[in-house]
Amino acid sequence: MPFDVTETDRLLSTTRAVRRRLDLERPVPAGVILDCIDVAEQAPTGGNQSSRRWLVVRDPETKAALAELYRSAGGNWISEAYAGVAGTGHHNEGALRSADHLARHLQDVPAIVLATIYGEHDGSGRPGLFDSVIQAAWSFCLALRSRGLGSAWTTLHMNEADRVAELLGIPDGVTQIVLLPVAWTVGDDFSPAPRRPARDITWFDHWGRTLERPGDGAPVHADGAGVTVEVDVDAPAADIWPYVADIELPARFSDEFRGAEWTSDERGVGATFLGRNRNERMGDWEVTCHVVDHEVDRVFAWNSADPEMPAAQWRLELIPLAGATRLRFSMVLGPGPSGLTAAIAAMPDKESKIVANRQKGQAANMRRCVEGIKALVEGADHDQQGDPA
Ligand SMILES: Cc1cc2nc3c(=O)[nH]c(=O)nc-3n(C[C@H](O)[C@H](O)[C@H](O)COP(=O)(O)O)c2cc1C
Repeated sequence: MPFDVTETDRLLSTTRAVRRRLDLERPVPAGVILDCIDVAEQAPTGGNQSSRRWLVVRDPETKAALAELYRSAGGNWISEAYAGVAGTGHHNEGALRSADHLARHLQDVPAIVLATIYGEHDGSGRPGLFDSVIQAAWSFCLALRSRGLGSAWTTLHMNEADRVAELLGIPDGVTQIVLLPVAWTVGDDFSPAPRRPARDITWFDHWGRTLERPGDGAPVHADGAGVTVEVDVDAPAADIWPYVADIELPARFSDEFRGAEWTSDERGVGATFLGRNRNERMGDWEVTCHVVDHEVDRVFAWNSADPEMPAAQWRLELIPLAGATRLRFSMVLGPGPSGLTAAIAAMPDKESKIVANRQKGQAANMRRCVEGIKALVEGADHDQQGDPA
């Protein structure tokens, strides 16, 4: 019987980290937890071995001791971090508020479930052991949600894993993976979270190669082929932004882009600049670029040639991470005409190859650009700190 895809997708996309909406008063029958574990145990397991073990903590004193360990392992730090950003509109304020709430109320949750597995990671760098348990623990969360219960994936306790093991009698040779508070949820109207669309984070055939409108064959121009390169910079977004907004800067790193000058007085959306380029095959050319997105410390994007039917679409983004910033540089070919479409028109049977070559060349230049910005920003940072390097 086919699934109701709308319903299964709703389950998969609304199973949130529930912390402030856990019902701390309503008891959770053990039978419901066992049912959910039965569902979870259908998840794949390496070698088809049954090595997952689930620990359900309901005893109030044990829960209190476990909650205390959770707080000393990092929960208290979360609460301090929340106090520092409360009311500031910080991008992580909501998550920290919820995490703080859970840290303070973990002992009051009707049941705390630990997913564990026999074995210890071999330190090989391969997921190994963990990949036989994480998917089961997530299935458990989905099974809870479909029954009106909720949980939140937590791992802070791992900083005190030995003391947790001692408290619960977990033997040596067993690895704790996740600690899941379990309760009925207060209401069930959870929404999908804002996440990057698949097209932004899915590469086709080669790392970093994107397709906006993927067809079924080898990528062609009409597929909206593109490239994304990313680098993590050890600095806040505000320190990187001046480099990102400097239209001349990529000329220092690219073997094609020669420089640019502003052709409008304004600098925000609607501003224009003229970019100069040169490469072996196409010689010299100039193109007017139209700023289509401009948010200080966040995004600088422009379309070349025609803003509505661009020859190419370019985007530099700054994405805050814990303690660093991800610099993401992406471009999409087309959909408008360009030197590339002229080359394709001349050799239509080579279209996929031409597109792939263009992606390859752009990726190399864009990679040099983001690495160059990283070096400049991190170097500037070191100078300020008096680091001779
Ligand atoms: C590996 C991992 C570890 C996490 N550890 C904790 C934790 O220790 N405490 C906590 O409150 N939330 C923890 N979370 C939950 C995240 O904060 C949560 O997923 C995030 O805020 C996004 O919310 P969402 O899952 O509803 O989209 C963890 C999530 C993951 C994936």
